[in-house]
Amino acid sequence: MPVIYEKEYKRYHIRGKSFSMVLAEYEMGDGSCVPLMRYYGSSLSRIPVEEGELLTERFRSFDTANAVLPFAVPTAGHGDFRPVQFEIIDGRGQNCTRLSLTGHGVIPGKKKLAGLPATYVEEEEEAQTLYLDLKDEKSGASVRVSYTLFEELDALAVSAEIRNDGGDGLILEQAGSVSLSLPQAVDFVHLHGAWAREFNLEKTGPMHGERTVRSMRGASGHQHNPFVALAVPGAAEQSGEVYGISLVYSGNFQITADQDAYDHTRVVAGINSQTFQWKLAPGESFQTPEAVLVYSDHGYGHLSQIYHELYKKRLCRGRYRDRCRPILVNNWEATYFAFNREKLLEIAGTAADLGIELFVLDDGWFGRRDDDSSSLGDWFVYEEKLPEGLLQVSDEIHKLGLKFGLWFEPEMISENSRLYENHPDWVLRADGYVMTPSRNQYILDLSRKEVQDYLIERVSRVLEENRIDYVKWDMNRNFAETGSASGIPSGELPHRYMLGVYRIMEVITGRHPDVLFEGCSGGGGRFDPGMLYYMPQIWTSDNSDAVSRLKIQYGASLVYPPGTMCSHVSAVPNHQVRRVTGLEIRGHVAMSGVFGYQLDFNRCTPKEREQIREQIKAAKQYREIVRTGKFTRLISPFSTGDCAWQFRTEKEILVFAFRILQQANVMPPQICLADLPLDAVWQDGEGQIYDSRYLMHHGLATHLSNPIEGERGDFQSQVFHLKKTGE
Ligand code: DGJ
Repeated sequence: MPVIYEKEYKRYHIRGKSFSMVLAEYEMGDGSCVPLMRYYGSSLSRIPVEEGELLTERFRSFDTANAVLPFAVPTAGHGDFRPVQFEIIDGRGQNCTRLSLTGHGVIPGKKKLAGLPATYVEEEEEAQTLYLDLKDEKSGASVRVSYTLFEELDALAVSAEIRNDGGDGLILEQAGSVSLSLPQAVDFVHLHGAWAREFNLEKTGPMHGERTVRSMRGASGHQHNPFVALAVPGAAEQSGEVYGISLVYSGNFQITADQDAYDHTRVVAGINSQTFQWKLAPGESFQTPEAVLVYSDHGYGHLSQIYHELYKKRLCRGRYRDRCRPILVNNWEATYFAFNREKLLEIAGTAADLGIELFVLDDGWFGRRDDDSSSLGDWFVYEEKLPEGLLQVSDEIHKLGLKFGLWFEPEMISENSRLYENHPDWVLRADGYVMTPSRNQYILDLSRKEVQDYLIERVSRVLEENRIDYVKWDMNRNFAETGSASGIPSGELPHRYMLGVYRIMEVITGRHPDVLFEGCSGGGGRFDPGMLYYMPQIWTSDNSDAVSRLKIQYGASLVYPPGTMCSHVSAVPNHQVRRVTGLEIRGHVAMSGVFGYQLDFNRCTPKEREQIREQIKAAKQYREIVRTGKFTRLISPFSTGDCAWQFRTEKEILVFAFRILQQANVMPPQICLADLPLDAVWQDGEGQIYDSRYLMHHGLATHLSNPIEGERGDFQSQVFHLKKTGE
């Protein structure tokens, strides 16, 4: 039994394959009984009865017991001076919530979260859920915290539901998804960035006080991913203790880690409380987003592998979850807005000949859109540009043997659009204030059902009237004035907006189960688990330069599976950084994710086109290893001038190695593999046989320091494909 209530000791033991979490009941002096987080770490077979001093008696004067107890569900008031999970204002305006245990239970499986994306089970046996019921009798606030253990996948999903069971209205000032208590000081690792340079790995050592990553943008954002890893200092890729917190949410979030004066760490993660205030009338309830916790005592590498497996298998959904993804060409960097039917068919024709499987028509096919100043919201074909209509274009693309994909940015509206003319009140805006433009566009008020319904019907019509196999769902600006003509207050709007987005995505993806949906927000501006629930792949960054992508994809892999990261070969000089790299490295970087192109093949030389033909063949051979294999980071581009990573299935290994800048007079780097079954034997394409131990301790010899005469010296790459052999 992975979740056990030990009645005698009044404690709950959640025991995963490699971790244990122990929550214990604790009688407070005021008659309430609260859950404490007594242990979270490596899996325990026994828990000591004498759990050691709880620190409380030792503390005097300024720090009361409440300031040091490891509350599992911390609330405001009562002298707990650390970040709290809940701050609830009662009918008298007081915020002194004391949540006392009223019950608990263990149920098989996992319940759906109303209106929110979340991890799920297909069979009840896959998970067990422990719920704790807590209540503040004085205010009437009731909370159910659910801890779902995915036993085989070795992860814990946590969320909370708050109900107003009292007579007066309650105001939620903060409603966190999870709180963690660790009895030590830890490193803080997070993924920060900006547009076109997302997912930078940053680690800071233990530090007293708070460290927070958050978004106030109405989207998870390019700046901070909703993920933090906390590591016991010294942890490395293959060793050490690391705790991961990943939020299944795409809106305003915050994750705060606080190291107190006693070097204990409290972490609270959930919706961003700065942009949140929610009225809860009697009888109403509020569901928090889910946080997914992973513990690894084999370093960051194992932590990532657990997230990858869970997110591939029990977060992503739909027909494409377990299917090979088509290799695409997208016309954006090839044409931008300047295309017509002939141009599209010219690219598609060559693409089909080279082995491409899907043609994607990006921005500019609708309304009167010739640049980014108009037409968002008018999801009708731009007849002057495509006079034959979209159906004819999609038919012709299909005749070439390609699937057809289309770009949308459903959440947005241009001032210069028919939709705005007809519904100026459908925009997020604050009464009396000028709307702040960004990319010449505004955000639709998706907290309103009629706006949601309009989008559901309009997008569905386009999908139904044309032959569309794929949708790229973009989102290219963040919040400014958060007001609604419907009167929804600014404290509720960001979350109600997200609930609206999720409803639209749920209905549209549900109605069109054969369509492959790809998420995008100017690249990785909304690359988060919430989006992966609806769309099993996401455009990782608008930066398509191979060298920049090494860091972007390496950083993202800390939590997200490479098989969800779209990555394209684009033209050189690269459009974002003007760097010139060879086709080989561009191909190897892109093959390490969901592979595609974003260039006009007709502008390539015949030699390049032949290279591309071979590249596509290789990508077809490798894509299932990349999608399903276990991913291991081998060399970090954040700490060296090289980069390497490995994918491994039961029978195959694929290693990509990269040298960014060349050096004179050095030995070629050896790439040591990791995480191989010890007794296996492998064979490469030339018949060379390798023992796993050799590969892990001696490594594969590369040619990365031997630039071929007359070729570029920098930006080298090499791929190794090994197969398991019986020899
Ligand atoms: C931003 C996306 O990230 C790009 O790939 C492209 O689709 C543009 N939007 C189109 O406006």
